[in-house]
Amino acid sequence: MAIWRRYARPPWWGEGLVVSPRLRAFYEACLPAALFYADLHCLGTHFLPSPSWFPAGFCVSQYHTAPSVGLSSPPSLPDFWAVLPHVFSGRVTFAATELLALYCALADLPRFGTDSSRYPDQLSRLADYFRQWPLGDQPMRLLDIGCGVGLNTLEIAALGVERLGSGLSILGVTPEPLEVWMAENRRLPHDPVRELRLRRYPPELPARFRAERFQELSGEEAFDVIVCNGLAGGRFLHECQDIARFLENCCRCLRPGGTIFLANHFHDGCRSACQRLLAEAAQRGFQISGDWQDACLQRM
Ligand SMILES: C[S@@+](CC[C@H](N)C(=O)[O-])C[C@H]1O[C@@H](n2cnc3c(N)ncnc32)[C@H](O)[C@@H]1O
Repeated sequence: MAIWRRYARPPWWGEGLVVSPRLRAFYEACLPAALFYADLHCLGTHFLPSPSWFPAGFCVSQYHTAPSVGLSSPPSLPDFWAVLPHVFSGRVTFAATELLALYCALADLPRFGTDSSRYPDQLSRLADYFRQWPLGDQPMRLLDIGCGVGLNTLEIAALGVERLGSGLSILGVTPEPLEVWMAENRRLPHDPVRELRLRRYPPELPARFRAERFQELSGEEAFDVIVCNGLAGGRFLHECQDIARFLENCCRCLRPGGTIFLANHFHDGCRSACQRLLAEAAQRGFQISGDWQDACLQRM
């Protein structure tokens, strides 16, 4: 940073500074994001248990070229700092003891907003569903697609065991192995406040986590309920072919008579993709209730 400050003119990046095209270009001229991400990636392949654990959202390769940076990666260093927790802002060097928190932060960016208590209406509908489930029959099997670090999944599991006890089994899936690790170990090394909430969920809750994309769900396991919050209709799932694939795979995994619960806090720009998804689900024979931000799809 000392060298940076000697050669680079202010304004330097600081919390709240608007990242203008000029500032972006200036940082790119001094230290291109592609170069920095390539080093982060290279370090990650040594630090993480496997190269596949490097957060997919950053999809960079080891080559130091602009095309190696994924479209969803922040286009410059100031953009990178703006999406990270404050502790990493404005920094290009990190101590070895900070790396776990840094890579976890990259997999669980604050803008995802993953947390408990975000969908209270859906939670009360799930509580009704759990209450009506015939005890003593088959255990209820619930799949949470796009489970993030598991805060919402575990909240649902805690609610479900109150009524169903051992008659409940939950699987959360996300493409990020680091998110699976955080959910299983109840660790959020980059966010101590949310970690306290995550640690409140006891290890014996009947929730498992697996690194898997919705595109790859095989349908080998049949579920009675699918929950998918903060994913369908948003940046990861809005293309027509993805919506079709999502519904196809949900149909394959869901028992006849089963229900899909979909909720989000997306901005209005996502409304049309969410509505398209609901319309296509209706065409496939689902009975729809609710609206684009909080819907129930019952498989007839
Ligand atoms: C905004 S977070 C929502 C987390 C959680 N469901 C919640 O509502 O708090 C979106 C999640 O979807 C996951 N995701 C992205 N692409 C996915 C895919 N193709 N299949 C399954 N999950 C995906 C992300 O890794 C992230 O965990």
